Amino acid sequence: MDFKTQLAPTAGLSHLPVDALLVVIVGQAVPKTLDKALGSLLNDAVKQADFEFKAGRCLYLHRPAGVRAARLAFVAAADASAKAFKAALVAGLGSLKMLGATELAVASVGGEALSAAHAEALAVAASAAVYLYRHTKPSAPAAPRLARVSLLAAKAQVAELTKGLRQGQAVAAGVALAREYANRPANHATPRHLAEQARKLGKQHGFKVEVFDRKKIEKIGMGAFLAVAQGSAEPPRFIVMHYRGAAKSQAPLVLVGKGITFDTGGISLKPGAEMDEMKFDMGGAASVLGTMRAIGELRPRINVVALIPACENMPGSRAVKPGDVVRSLSGQTIEILNTDAEGRLILCDALTYAERFKPAAVVDIATLTGACVIALGHHNSGLFSSDDQLAGELLAASRSALDAAWRMPLDDEYDEGLKSHFADMANIAGRPGGAITAAKFLQRYTTQYPWAHLDIAGTGWQSGAAKGATGRPVPLLTHFVLGRAAA
Ligand code: BES
Ligand code: MN
Ligand code: ZN
Repeated sequence: MDFKTQLAPTAGLSHLPVDALLVVIVGQAVPKTLDKALGSLLNDAVKQADFEFKAGRCLYLHRPAGVRAARLAFVAAADASAKAFKAALVAGLGSLKMLGATELAVASVGGEALSAAHAEALAVAASAAVYLYRHTKPSAPAAPRLARVSLLAAKAQVAELTKGLRQGQAVAAGVALAREYANRPANHATPRHLAEQARKLGKQHGFKVEVFDRKKIEKIGMGAFLAVAQGSAEPPRFIVMHYRGAAKSQAPLVLVGKGITFDTGGISLKPGAEMDEMKFDMGGAASVLGTMRAIGELRPRINVVALIPACENMPGSRAVKPGDVVRSLSGQTIEILNTDAEGRLILCDALTYAERFKPAAVVDIATLTGACVIALGHHNSGLFSSDDQLAGELLAASRSALDAAWRMPLDDEYDEGLKSHFADMANIAGRPGGAITAAKFLQRYTTQYPWAHLDIAGTGWQSGAAKGATGRPVPLLTHFVLGRAAA
């Protein structure tokens, strides 16, 4: 999808020759600055009780008299913020996306001047509106025809909004990639398939990509990762991607994504209901791939390393058993009391592997615990960090990217439940505070650098009617990387 800014016609929006025009209305009345023809249409709709100034309310008009646009939609925004603008766009685009229009112009009337954040939100919302999963569904309807979107801007805003659109387009491309790979079923999106995708991204954007197979992973000594992988006939992969945007001597950011391509629970088997959704258990890995794509397009001046341990968690005659003790890459031993707490086992070895890059910071992203869904629901990702500066940066990125995250505690008292009679630690504690004890487990492997953990179990995908991957937290991660590059 193409995005550009466009100067509003001096004669008014009704003179804009375009396939479709979406007008976001800010405020509680027909804005005085609205073009006359549009204003009288909207006034009439309000009188007829067909439109209200309530967030998300839409009015669609086909070939309205006195307007050059073939399709016109109004949508009400709660206020002038980028967040309200995005919510209004999602609603407005919903009424336009499946129509025949290929070209859409978007205007905001009644609020203050738009910012780069508004422009970015438009690119993200419009791209998301036309995303359609088709990889294993040949009968999927034809994708919406919408291909070009312009944002109406005053002359003084053009530079800023154009920059926002460009950034939004890159974020949107990353989100789309993350959604696509997370949506693919586990028999398609295998560890080998993810590795191929990483290689492809490397070719497209000039990243160096390394892929380790089981033998190499054994040689390195990732005993915890291998314990999870050993139950499956599908071979594991450890993926390393290097983005070089600054001098070699500059310490990189390291992103680590949980890549469980299917989580049955292993011998500690999960119940059957909704188990299909455990194909989304590589959402962390998908978000890292998506972020690398956005970075590849935006080329910030910073070094980034992406690490993805990828495997299936399966039961079987070779599978790891409750009570088995394994040796992690760090040398610490782990008693695997529950084979369904596998994410932390593959991540801990990746976190130790990260040490060799002498990172400026490490952020891991994982669909780690059902307990995080209970704690925060499906709106906020759980953010854990003992480093206040890093946590602050990630929360700022979350706000500017409109990708919600909430900081969770890491008090040492939560660590006590991880003690084991037979190893340096157990891989589970009790049920209370399960998202926190999982983070405490990971923290034991992160003593060598500033570290943060994002639990996206509640935010990485949606269930029910809108079932599918969300592509979160690609926007947050991309903003974090850009913020670091600018600092
Ligand atoms: N992938 C799951 C976490 C998960 C569960 C995410 C449900 C989204 C929805 C993870 O591997 C897991 O199974 N965690 C266990 C940990 C427990 C055994 C300590 C959990 O959350 O139940
Ligand atoms: Mn599990
Ligand atoms: Zn899992």
